[in-house]
Amino acid sequence: MSELNKIALKILSNGKGILAADESNGTMTKRLDSVNVPSTSENRLLFRETLFSSEGMKNYIGGVILYDETINQTSNLQKTIPELISISGAVPGIKVDTGAKILAGSPEEKITEGLDGLRERLQGYYKLGARFTKWRGVYNISNKYPSTLSIQSNAHALARYSALVQECGMVPIVEPEVLMDGDHSAEVCFDKTSEVIRRCFEELAIHKIDLSGIILKPNMILAGTESNKKISSEEVARLTLKCLKKNVPFEVPGIAFLSGGQTEIEATKNLNLINKHNDTNFIMTYSYGRALQKSALKFWSKNIKDTNGTQKIFNHRANMCTLAAQGKWSAELEAK
Ligand code: 13P
Repeated sequence: MSELNKIALKILSNGKGILAADESNGTMTKRLDSVNVPSTSENRLLFRETLFSSEGMKNYIGGVILYDETINQTSNLQKTIPELISISGAVPGIKVDTGAKILAGSPEEKITEGLDGLRERLQGYYKLGARFTKWRGVYNISNKYPSTLSIQSNAHALARYSALVQECGMVPIVEPEVLMDGDHSAEVCFDKTSEVIRRCFEELAIHKIDLSGIILKPNMILAGTESNKKISSEEVARLTLKCLKKNVPFEVPGIAFLSGGQTEIEATKNLNLINKHNDTNFIMTYSYGRALQKSALKFWSKNIKDTNGTQKIFNHRANMCTLAAQGKWSAELEAK
């Protein structure tokens, strides 16, 4: 078993999942604005370290994705943030892309940037304690999109990123996110997501990536948010499994879904059904941002000093997601 494979399994095994706390300062400011908390670096640290020092971290979270600001911060508990995460038994990770920018040649689409100087930045993050990384390619669906240009160029960037990350001894999360926005049907989401993932793995093969040392972070197969043809969670699970079975090589150890704007309960219920019906060898777990943090953030914003109260909400959410990652969640458990 390779070192990279061991890291991936440490993050994903036993129902554990990933806490995606890597919102850029811009995105975090939007999240904090929405609950009327000033987006200062102290407040961003305070919310995050409240989660990182919770009991839920020990029991449910195998890895935490950080943003550059956070990985360089020292917690009020006198530990660096990567130390605080490691003490809980989870692996510190880092978002290394520098964001999705307008794609020249197709200005309504995005290309993710951050390859220049990446090797040196990775070495710095490794020294700070990071053992896995994230890069997110983003694709929108419409009649014309995602274009071949967007599919090819984002796959190429994801593969170049993955090669550099593995060279540096870390596990790359490969995240091609097909967005929920739009009025498309689930079938269209299925077709476009299949094409996007297929192309990513073609490019990863060209770049000689050790597939046993990556984590795939895809979207689930859903109807668009504006679609009038919503599908049931059973159908979400069926289509998601069908898409991944067809397009993900067997060497990949695990798949950790993004929540992508689903509610906390939807993201949990859908993951649970995916696991109930999982007839693959892939671990299927979560790498949620909003679907792990939303309720905790709302409570915290009104009770900034109530660390225990905030942690209780986060612990519950992480517990529910971990049960879902084992196909053991039920709606009744939410009320307990
Ligand atoms: P969401 O679960 O909020 O979609 O965030 C996951 C993530 O890391 C997106 O890049």
